[in-house]
Amino acid sequence: MEIKNKPTAPKGKLGILTPGMGAVATTFIAGVEAIRKKISEPIGSLTQMGTIRLGKRNENRVPSIREFIPLAELDDVVFGGWDIFEDNAYDAAIKAGVLSRELLDQVKPFLQKISPMKAVFDQHYVKKLSGSWVKKGKNWKDLAEQLMDDIRLFKEKEGCDRLVMIWCASTEVFMKPSRVHQDLKSFEKGLAERSPDIAPSMVYAYAALSLGIPFANGAPNLTVDIPALNELEGASREAALDALDQIAPRIDVHRALVRRVRGHAGHERRAHVAQRRVGGGAHQRDPPDRGGTEARLGVQPRTQVVRLGVQQAVRPATARRRAARAKHDGRPVGREATCRV
Ligand SMILES: NC(=O)c1ccc[n+]([C@@H]2O[C@H](COP(=O)([O-])OP(=O)(O)OC[C@H]3O[C@@H](n4cnc5c(N)ncnc54)[C@H](O)[C@@H]3O)[C@@H](O)[C@H]2O)c1
Repeated sequence: MEIKNKPTAPKGKLGILTPGMGAVATTFIAGVEAIRKKISEPIGSLTQMGTIRLGKRNENRVPSIREFIPLAELDDVVFGGWDIFEDNAYDAAIKAGVLSRELLDQVKPFLQKISPMKAVFDQHYVKKLSGSWVKKGKNWKDLAEQLMDDIRLFKEKEGCDRLVMIWCASTEVFMKPSRVHQDLKSFEKGLAERSPDIAPSMVYAYAALSLGIPFANGAPNLTVDIPALNELEGASREAALDALDQIAPRIDVHRALVRRVRGHAGHERRAHVAQRRVGGGAHQRDPPDRGGTEARLGVQPRTQVVRLGVQQAVRPATARRRAARAKHDGRPVGREATCRV
């Protein structure tokens, strides 16, 4: 096995920030803490228990992923997030009703310490929700800057070396790409004018990427499928955009790992988004409304066509910037040959 550009081992604390602290986010946070406290086993966790096949099937080389690639240890992970309700992670997890009260009570003190920051929210994009724990701002740009302040404060308070942001908030209404999404300049003008074509999820993604923080999308929103945010990602050496499926993350994580080994941040980053849900039902805070249902139905063809299409087309300017970055790093520009997996 030859790995050029071998990934460096992660150092220090990894902060995981989730816009949305409902069923998905609190199950994730409580699950990690339960594993750390040895109350639960990490069953189903690709990073903790998954393996990766190397070479041909008959070579029988199947190391565990965590041995193969240096990944953050669970002990190094800290959590933060935003929500439109003030409930701490324990109260939100009880309301979500995914994990048993018995389990949640064993991690209660930990969960109770995680309280959401005020959200960037507008009911226009999630019709059936209204909450009071919401930031006020002149326009989207102002709100994005407030998010960036939150992120900097969190990083300092928790002593994090690295951060990632994962969208775990409600699915937003179906939106089509428009002019404002076409490039970063138009997008930033739209932020300043509070364009209705910019949804809160895009404001979070913009804030994260502006600070060089990778943003992963866990909902079938338009968020990361617009050239403007791809351009912003392209301009950052650190940040990466990703769409992921919170319930069947294997494809996504495999792709992310392969990408990491290859040393590429641009290819194979569209993953398929499924709509199977954990929890939900009576406990779900955003029962599908007309907008939500339309969003789900509306997004399906795009999901299949765009996200299952493995190679993503990038704008020429982005391709040029990536090529220059690869050259600077001494990496091959093509997708081959940074490693043979
Ligand atoms: N539950 C699943 O199995 C599953 C699987 C795949 C994808 N998803 C997606 O993950 C997302 C979350 O699902 P869930 O089951 O946790 O829903 P949920 O309703 O339990 O939680 C969503 C949370 O997001 C908050 N929220 C809404 N808009 C926000 C904003 N702009 N900023 C901050 N917080 C905001 C809500 O107040 C709520 O607490 C949804 O988009 C869903 O489609 C869920």
